Amino acid sequence: MHTDVKIKPFWYSDTFVFPKLITIVTTLNSEGKVNAAPYSHIMQYDVMHKTPRIYLGFRNTSHTFQNIRDTGEFVINCPSASHLKDMMETARFHPEGVNELEHTSFTQIPSKRVKPPSIAECKQILECTVDKVVDLDATQGHVIANIVSLMVEEELVDMGREDRLRALDLPIGLGDERRADYFYCHSDNIEMYTLEDIEESADEVVALVTGMDWDEGSMKALRRVPAGVRRTVIRHTEAAAKEKGATEITAELYGQISKEAGMDDAVLDRFQSGG
Ligand SMILES: Cc1cc2nc3c(=O)[nH]c(=O)nc-3n(C[C@H](O)[C@H](O)[C@H](O)COP(=O)(O)O)c2cc1C
Repeated sequence: MHTDVKIKPFWYSDTFVFPKLITIVTTLNSEGKVNAAPYSHIMQYDVMHKTPRIYLGFRNTSHTFQNIRDTGEFVINCPSASHLKDMMETARFHPEGVNELEHTSFTQIPSKRVKPPSIAECKQILECTVDKVVDLDATQGHVIANIVSLMVEEELVDMGREDRLRALDLPIGLGDERRADYFYCHSDNIEMYTLEDIEESADEVVALVTGMDWDEGSMKALRRVPAGVRRTVIRHTEAAAKEKGATEITAELYGQISKEAGMDDAVLDRFQSGG
């Protein structure tokens, strides 16, 4: 039986378990001194490729938040589980102006498009510039940032997901007790399930297309849409075509409606390659 638990500060960590990605955010203060600290209140914000953005939540007195506000730039570095000790070292409350990386075995390297350094040992890195800073209340600040470089270790680029997960060996944060004891697990126990498509033959797709005629070209394009989203695409396309006063879906109209719905070549390529 469930019970209604009182919501207290830090509910997301103390009461509710949210496994999270652990990163080390590197910044520069207004005098150009390096700061590094772990952050896991991080989530993708804009998942498309035109304005890729990320969201982060901070205690607003942290040096990292203040540096981001002052300089508008930062780097998100993802350490592997083998660097947990170094990562925890960067969490200690060093005075302003202390470069925490100097107390670790991490190697500082220049970033590609922003001034704060990256960490060589981290195999995936996001270089970011500020889009918006949001002051939520007296204690919390949020940052929505543009991803200006997505850097990954070369060996990972063509690796399948399972090998990549093992090579990255990312620690997963499981929350803390007393703001002192931090719990982690490793991504070394990997399971995989294949999502089976509900296969529809081309004839079944045609049968699904009710209400309007689709020419040969638009039907060809429709066959390339993954089966799982085909019905939604048909419904959306026909509704949009009716709004435009069209009575037939031509290849040209289908292309136009797809683009208006954000389905440009890069998005379609992602679906078709399964990448
Ligand atoms: C694994 C881990 C994740 C953390 N995530 C966050 C976070 O998302 N937001 C936050 O404000 N503090 C977070 N902290 C606490 C900060 O890292 C800590 O307060 C640090 O000393 C801040 O350093 P700074 O003042 O140099 O930015 C986290 C700590 C750890 C160990």
